[in-house]
Amino acid sequence: MARKKLIAGNWKMNCLTAEGTDLAKTIAAEVKKMGKPECEFLVCPPFTLLGTVKKSLRGTKVALGAQDCHFAEKGAHTGDISPLMLTDLGCKYVILGHSERRADHLESNELINKKAVAAHKAGLKTVICIGETLAEREAGKAIDVCKEQILGSVPDDSTAADTVIAYEPVWAIGTGKVPTTNDVEEVHAAVRKVLAKKLGKSNANKMRILYGGSVKPSNAKELLSLSDVDGALIGGASLKADDFIAIAKNAGC
Ligand code: 13P
Repeated sequence: MARKKLIAGNWKMNCLTAEGTDLAKTIAAEVKKMGKPECEFLVCPPFTLLGTVKKSLRGTKVALGAQDCHFAEKGAHTGDISPLMLTDLGCKYVILGHSERRADHLESNELINKKAVAAHKAGLKTVICIGETLAEREAGKAIDVCKEQILGSVPDDSTAADTVIAYEPVWAIGTGKVPTTNDVEEVHAAVRKVLAKKLGKSNANKMRILYGGSVKPSNAKELLSLSDVDGALIGGASLKADDFIAIAKNAGC
């Protein structure tokens, strides 16, 4: 089953206007030079830059995404952003359940599921994040934790067209540490199995499962050539256009 790789940048809480505009424009120009790339490209700036970056990406092959959303369409939720507000700004994707949100904002699987249902209803594609902590990995529970997160946070009617899974071991995020290729393969295969049970084989075979956590140009080829790895969710290295593009090229895009 051929799945088009997704190369996604999660800018997290970084970049002011000038830097973000420059980054988006440089990435878009480099992607243009690639002609007809084999991969899809996505950047997810902070909320404050969505409108500006949208302009920089107009007419390019780089899609725009947000890093979170609320589950309600509108209303009394001070400081929150609704899925409709994101589509209104031109977003195609939203990242949900990132481990930093699970940790900083105590987001539960149940809440992430509600957000994903609302995002799909508004026409957004979701990138739903899962991944174990170091203590869970050392206790041999990595796969069980990922299974539980998928069962809880992925809506039952999700399809390969509206959902992408991102496996991001918490201990690999921003640390320079990366699991062995065997470990990545093992988790991704287990994730696809759980998805098959939950969403049916056809959806599971078509659904993209990204790897995230210290992806760099130097490890991109090895990680992104694994059979069940369908792209990358990139943090730190997505803030440097050269690195982001080098990752894509090394991944065969
Ligand atoms: P790093 O690439 O900085 O490790 O971050 C990964 C990540 O959290 C992407 O969502």
